[in-house]
Amino acid sequence: MRHQNSSVPAKIVNRFRSFGYLAWNEVEKSYRRLFSGQHQLTSTTSADRYPELFAEAANILNAGHQPCRILSYGCSTGEECFSLKRYMPNSTIIGLDINRNNLKKARAANTSQDILFLESNAENLTRHGPYDAIFALSVLCRWEDTKFVDNCEKIYPFEKFGSTVNQLATQLKVGGVLVVYNSNFRVEDTDDFRCFEIVPTPTVMDSGFVKKFDRQNFASNDRHTNCIYRKISS
Ligand SMILES: C[S@@+](CC[C@H](N)C(=O)[O-])C[C@H]1O[C@@H](n2cnc3c(N)ncnc32)[C@H](O)[C@@H]1O
Repeated sequence: MRHQNSSVPAKIVNRFRSFGYLAWNEVEKSYRRLFSGQHQLTSTTSADRYPELFAEAANILNAGHQPCRILSYGCSTGEECFSLKRYMPNSTIIGLDINRNNLKKARAANTSQDILFLESNAENLTRHGPYDAIFALSVLCRWEDTKFVDNCEKIYPFEKFGSTVNQLATQLKVGGVLVVYNSNFRVEDTDDFRCFEIVPTPTVMDSGFVKKFDRQNFASNDRHTNCIYRKISS
């Protein structure tokens, strides 16, 4: 996982901003597509964005009481980490993102010594692991680029998802949980799924609105609701 910072350099920002927000948005996305490590192109996030999912995860981890180590992979501007800290007050949280501008905003908003924001690369991922829980929410996808295609291979191939799940799974403690929401693929289709069991999440109705594809990158219409997976072996 050798990522480079995918925030757009200032000289490109200044040149294109005057074209208006929508045009600028497209320029930003095109720039990010150049980075092989890049998953989702946009940085949309908000506080307490997935309340049911956070509550289920906190319940599973019993983390209101137990100290635990959490990774937010694709933390954007930090709201996800701040929310997780409220659900799991005894946690230490590492937020990784590929976009340095997001990290700058996250650090500026951070008031907790238990939350650390770092660039997403293999070194930072492993240096702070292993983790009790890894959240990859609205990250392992290309949305809306994949919305109208029957095969997503050219936009976001299964191998990219599978290899990232593998890297994340390696950094998860046995007994820990991988939480994946709004992804283009199902964790069940990865080779690593053999090391996991599905944790039922009765209050979470689906695994996100992002369109799902199979291992061959073909669109799948099967209803999919699983989003929390416990690691049962390495
Ligand atoms: C739509 S935001 C999701 C933010 C947050 N997880 C949420 O659900 O609210 C997607 C984030 O993933 C980040 N991202 C994309 N590829 C990444 C990678 N390889 N490593 C870490 N973050 C990545 C983007 O920079 C962006 O901040």
